[in-house]
Amino acid sequence: MGLRNFMKRHSSDPLRRRKAWSKYFERRARRFDLHVYKSHLNWTISEDFKTLLDQWGDAPGIPADRCFFIYSLGKLISSKGISGDTAECGVRFGKSSFMLLNALADPERPHHLFDSFEGLSEPRAQDASIGFREWEEGEMSAHESAALKNLSAFPNCVLHRGWIPDRFPDAADRQFACVHIDVDLYDPTGASLEFFYPRMAQGGFIVCDDYGLASCPGATKAFDEFFEDKPEMVLPIPSGQVLVWKT
Ligand SMILES: C[S@@+](CC[C@H](N)C(=O)[O-])C[C@H]1O[C@@H](n2cnc3c(N)ncnc32)[C@H](O)[C@@H]1O
Repeated sequence: MGLRNFMKRHSSDPLRRRKAWSKYFERRARRFDLHVYKSHLNWTISEDFKTLLDQWGDAPGIPADRCFFIYSLGKLISSKGISGDTAECGVRFGKSSFMLLNALADPERPHHLFDSFEGLSEPRAQDASIGFREWEEGEMSAHESAALKNLSAFPNCVLHRGWIPDRFPDAADRQFACVHIDVDLYDPTGASLEFFYPRMAQGGFIVCDDYGLASCPGATKAFDEFFEDKPEMVLPIPSGQVLVWKT
């Protein structure tokens, strides 16, 4: 049956309609070497998660698949009782923190926010990518009040405004169950790993938003260099993230 007819015939059934559209776009996307997510992936149909995405609305931030990964880690930390604070390096408007904090639902667990709120620091030679435009210093700046407003339901947030790593000593005596690193560049990604790795709880998670992005070779390099002599495995995720599970 032709796709157009299939859609006509099943247009009153939302699930079948969704499947048909997904197939249609999948075929078209393949022609341009692009990819469309399957219509029946759990994260795309989970009511809980969809509610969170709707709550966030149209404000900028990381895409839905990466949000779901962070949300899932939050649930796991909670269900497995992994102890320690949580942290984010690179907050911007707070979307990834919003996902993690909703999943954790633990007002007693401090969540540390590290950001200059002045955008990216100065890119280095390691950050130059082939085929993508160069990062510019100051790009992706946002006012801290926007992040604080978006995270106002979470009184456990502790803001450390400033350049990475300048404000890390504020949290030097803490242990961490999860850190999300999303600063795009070589220098601050490496500095974040130096600081957080020895402070991770056993079974804690280090996630980087940028590892699998061709536009962020510096972040990938910083990760690979740092974990070269460490026992932990570095697991790239198809969404572009990477996961390290502290042993
Ligand atoms: C890609 S955005 C973060 C996106 C965010 N995680 C989200 O959920 O949408 C990168 C953030 O890193 C911050 N940043 C980049 N380099 C930094 C540095 N060296 N020190 C502090 N903050 C930095 C920027 O100000 C920006 O807010």
